[in-house]
Amino acid sequence: MEDQELKEIYENAMKDIEKIDSLDSLNEVKNDYLSKKSRFMGLMAKMKELTIEGKKAFGEAINRAKNDITTKIEEKRILLEQKQLEKKLKEEEIDFTLPAVNYEIGGKNPFFIIQDEMIDIFLGMGYEIAEGPEVELDHFNFELLNIPKDHPARDMQDTFYIDENTLMRTHTSPVQARVMQEKKGKPIKIICPGKVYRRDDDDATHSHQFGQIEGLVVDKNITLSNLKATLELFIKKMYGEKREIRLRSSYFPFTEPSVEVDVSCDCGGKENCSKCKGTGWIEILGGGMVHPNVLKMSGYDPNEYQGFAFGVGIERVAMLRYGIDDIRRFYQNDVRFLSQFKRK
Ligand code: DAH
Repeated sequence: MEDQELKEIYENAMKDIEKIDSLDSLNEVKNDYLSKKSRFMGLMAKMKELTIEGKKAFGEAINRAKNDITTKIEEKRILLEQKQLEKKLKEEEIDFTLPAVNYEIGGKNPFFIIQDEMIDIFLGMGYEIAEGPEVELDHFNFELLNIPKDHPARDMQDTFYIDENTLMRTHTSPVQARVMQEKKGKPIKIICPGKVYRRDDDDATHSHQFGQIEGLVVDKNITLSNLKATLELFIKKMYGEKREIRLRSSYFPFTEPSVEVDVSCDCGGKENCSKCKGTGWIEILGGGMVHPNVLKMSGYDPNEYQGFAFGVGIERVAMLRYGIDDIRRFYQNDVRFLSQFKRK
């Protein structure tokens, strides 16, 4: 670099950049040396006095100097940004060694453990979940299920009435009628988990509120063997491969034929077994083939379509699975009970 002035500017720039310790002053220096009004501008006057070759060489020297300065500034910028970040991280450091506040983590109520498991089993068989209101019309809870006013079957399902035609649903079965009306003659494969209500005196096996899961399949060529296979699969998934089911004939106004389904007891029929009372079988749910009247009332032609349905009490399934002796335990929020179901 022959020109003394250029040399000075260059060396000053390098020194200035070296000294800088903040991004703000770096920008100032950048302005000083590289902007349109930079110190190099003064050199331009000299250009005029030079030969063509001289101009070329001088121009190149200026550009080289500027490039060097630019590189130096950018290197410095990276360095300063790095320092700034380190400073920030240091300031915001969290002390992980502080002891945590000790608190108890709750567990899922066994009602919901079992409800979720049941739902999973049926979702795995391709069922969809349907919902219906807990405050239900008499029309859906009874009439459309083939239980007209004054039918004796109403006696077993007394409930809480809102007014003459509105009540707390006594079972999840009204959702059958609701779904049929919604699907308007198309095939159906749903379960409906939910709360139901009865005017019952609470004891070890009865509660004024409990949970049920309803199942409904409507399609062409549906038979009782489809129901049996479905429930057998459900029971084996729920209680283990060794369990068997037994169908006994029964009566529900909304199914014909109707069945009561028993599951084999794991005691193998011991005389003093508290679960099966020595019979080897435990009643678990009700079901049957959807009554032609029920299909007809909600818009399905029983000559074309058949269906099966079932209803199962969630607490009952949970009580058998865990050996719970009293249905009221599900609702009392007693940690001595609940903590036994905590996930480890
Ligand atoms: N709804 C009946 C009850 O609560 C249970 C039931 C029985 C449901 C037979 C059904 C069925 O869908 O087909 O006692």
